Amino acid sequence: MKNILVTGGAGFIGSAFIRHMVATYPDYNIICYDKLTYAGNIDNLLPVSDEPNYRFERGDIADRAAVHTALQRHNIDTIVNFAAESHVDRSILSPDAFIHTDVVGAYILLDEGRKHGIGRFCQVSTDEVYGDIDEGLSVEGDRFLPNSPYAASKAGGELMLRAYQVTYGMDTVITRGSNTYGPYQYPEKLIPFFTTEALDDRPLPLYGDGLQIRDWLYVDDHARGVDCILHRGKTGEAYNLAGENQRHNIEVTRQILEQLGKPPTLIRHVPDREGHDRRYAMTAAKARALGWQRAYNFERGLAETVRWYVENDWWWRKIKTGEYLAYYQSQYSDRLAAATAAP
Ligand code: NAD
Ligand code: DAU
Repeated sequence: MKNILVTGGAGFIGSAFIRHMVATYPDYNIICYDKLTYAGNIDNLLPVSDEPNYRFERGDIADRAAVHTALQRHNIDTIVNFAAESHVDRSILSPDAFIHTDVVGAYILLDEGRKHGIGRFCQVSTDEVYGDIDEGLSVEGDRFLPNSPYAASKAGGELMLRAYQVTYGMDTVITRGSNTYGPYQYPEKLIPFFTTEALDDRPLPLYGDGLQIRDWLYVDDHARGVDCILHRGKTGEAYNLAGENQRHNIEVTRQILEQLGKPPTLIRHVPDREGHDRRYAMTAAKARALGWQRAYNFERGLAETVRWYVENDWWWRKIKTGEYLAYYQSQYSDRLAAATAAP
């Protein structure tokens, strides 16, 4: 590996991966290729912007000509694909962009990568492809039962990877991460959304009874997990990157409020997300066998994350304008009008 194209590298996890790779492998060239959608943010890459082994190029992974040019220009031998539409609620409001990027984009990237003769292609996927499980832990061989347009689009991208590995012998690996949190996460996702809303004493719209379970993974652990699978994963295989930190949403919400010294009366129980998965949980045993281990437990990770949003309002205040407010309105205004206060 010498010249790595990191697609979606201006987003939350992709930028953590780039910051990690640029610092860890000075002999690699790391090229960020990102469309800069509403979720892409060049500020996330400020810490590496002057590093000699980092470059940025703006482009869409579903634009065949642009992908072709980027692969040639940078003599790319490895692709790590983080690029995606990633927010479940937006996929329920409007699935089109999810099919464009998560399915068609993944296909075009693979196809152009194959024609260019790249080596390894690493697809960053999600535990949501397994769908919701009542008990136990998802393992890599489990069947796919995605329930939202987002989860189905990610499953579609993974299946294209499988087909390119089996049919054309491409060197592919897949990571399936659990719910990730940390600095630089777009404030539409639960932890940064509730933290930044609570800082301004605004209501926190908790879906349904708040007893849904997510498995939380700190972003730097996720980034190191992708690095591990990229270097040590077996071709054609998928690896769960599980936080193994299961928490109810209500518990996470209360912890955020406690840490900020804000009252639980900010919580509003609002009508549930359509098709809301009750529980995700995976085992990370297969990735652990390759030497990956998460470093953060949830309490430490959440404390550092909340502190980061408190100290970096320059980063999130400028996001919470324009398109963000229009999205907030369509997602939450009716829900908050129908809300009940926390019991
Ligand atoms: P994000 O929404 O923060 O970032 C996505 C990035 O992709 C943005 O920079 C955006 O500009 C870029 N992008 C979108 N469409 C593009 C296109 N057509 N061409 C090029 N760039 C495009 O997402 P994230 O939370 O950092 O997630 C990154 C990846 O990890 C996604 O593939 C997601 O499915 C997966 N994942 C996320 C989580 C999580 O909890 N956030 C957990 C597991 C897996
Ligand atoms: O599990 C991995 C997935 O985690 C990733 O693949 C996705 O890209 C990522 O967005 C995330 O999906 P979730 O839907 O689990 O994350 P979100 O932050 O949107 O929601 C977390 C939980 O909190 C979920 O049960 C819904 C609930 N929630 C979320 C929001 C935004 C609320 O109750 N209220 C809210 O306003």
